[in-house]
Amino acid sequence: MASRFALRQLARSSSSSILRAAAGRTTSAAALASRLSKVSTPAVASSFQTRGIKTLDFGGSKEVVYERSDWPKEKLQEYFKNDTIAVLGYGPQGHGQSLNLKDNGLNVIVGVRKGGRSWNKAIAEGWVEGKDLFSIEEAADKGTIVFNLLSDAAQRDLWGQVSPYITPGKTLYFSHGFALTYNDQTGVTTPEGVDVILCAPKGSGFTLRTLFLDGKGLNSSIAVAQDASGKAKEKAIALGVAIGSGYLYETTFKKEVYSDLFGERGVLMGAIQGLFRAQYDILRKNGHSPSEAFNETVEEATQSLFPLIGQKGMDWMFASCSVTAQRGALDWHQRFYDASLPVFEELYQKVVDGSEAKRALDKNSQADYRESLEKELAEIQESEIWRAGKTVRQLRPENAGKN
Ligand SMILES: NC(=O)c1ccc[n+]([C@@H]2O[C@H](COP(=O)([O-])OP(=O)(O)OC[C@H]3O[C@@H](n4cnc5c(N)ncnc54)[C@H](OP(=O)(O)O)[C@@H]3O)[C@@H](O)[C@H]2O)c1
Repeated sequence: MASRFALRQLARSSSSSILRAAAGRTTSAAALASRLSKVSTPAVASSFQTRGIKTLDFGGSKEVVYERSDWPKEKLQEYFKNDTIAVLGYGPQGHGQSLNLKDNGLNVIVGVRKGGRSWNKAIAEGWVEGKDLFSIEEAADKGTIVFNLLSDAAQRDLWGQVSPYITPGKTLYFSHGFALTYNDQTGVTTPEGVDVILCAPKGSGFTLRTLFLDGKGLNSSIAVAQDASGKAKEKAIALGVAIGSGYLYETTFKKEVYSDLFGERGVLMGAIQGLFRAQYDILRKNGHSPSEAFNETVEEATQSLFPLIGQKGMDWMFASCSVTAQRGALDWHQRFYDASLPVFEELYQKVVDGSEAKRALDKNSQADYRESLEKELAEIQESEIWRAGKTVRQLRPENAGKN
């Protein structure tokens, strides 16, 4: 009963016809209620090893996760009391990580090229030249823990300038496995006597900062490439917490970069744009209006279904939609799986063999890179689907009256 009520509430606040249909069916309500109650019970079985370390069951595989509860602010300050953390680069990650470290009471300095966009942004956000804002080389020299948060291309281009300062006893930190995994292309190495660690937040540095200010945290992965001190993993976990992560899970530099490049080219960005476009174009070709094609492709997905998938899972979505939608989705998901599998296979191979990394480095370091990128981005921006989307978004009640 309660579950059916919840479904009705969801359906009321949802534009989704398939959910409304499910809420209206009395015969399946009991079954839905039972399925709902099962889904809303956490599927993970945990056994606590220490307070903040848990072994969790992820769909049948046991994994260790680390939580921030073992590293309160005071403990972090004590642990890093003799350290200077030098954050090189002030892009989204440099911004979010350095400000969170500072707010956690750690000794942080920022290193960026003088007069550049990042330099001016750092000054605007409170960093002071000569006090906690320096050139890249000066900061690398002063830091006992050096965060290499330059762009991936700049990590290659500036390694010759940075590496002389990464001396034995220091810690070298990355937020991406890129530079080391593709070191045949970047020239980045693991200097002798240095702890080399990774903490990669699963999201933008701006999100990391916003969640930190709200008392929440982004999930991050951690890895160790070289453990010179015997404490490299502990340091990676502590730094992961200090930059504002919620929980941390273990990976390797290779796995981090492979999954990251694969995911952003796939379901996170490339594949989703491809699927949206293909569905929209077929609807348009068959006489559907831009608003109908957009609503049925993007708006219902992002406004109604995707948030519910995020909250409850795709299994819940299958169990909770109308039988008509259910039949169709059950029949067609395998066709889409079969069609996309070879593309994903090819993509993963290209990530592993380094050709995706090579393409990113080559393209991103060409002199006219900005201009050609702007052209490609403009093509997406000016395509009919995303122009139609602008108008559809304006019609959302919360945007009424705004431009
Ligand atoms: N963005 C994300 O969502 C995300 C998530 C997890 C991990 N990461 C990783 O975190 C690291 C930093 O990424 P990001 O997105 O924050 O950085 P980004 O925007 O790609 O670039 C960061 C910095 O690189 C500097 N830079 C670029 N070319 C330079 C050059 N030739 N000389 C000197 N400085 C140069 C920029 O300075 P100027 O302003 O002076 O150009 C900027 O401060 C990367 O390894 C990335 O893969 C990113």
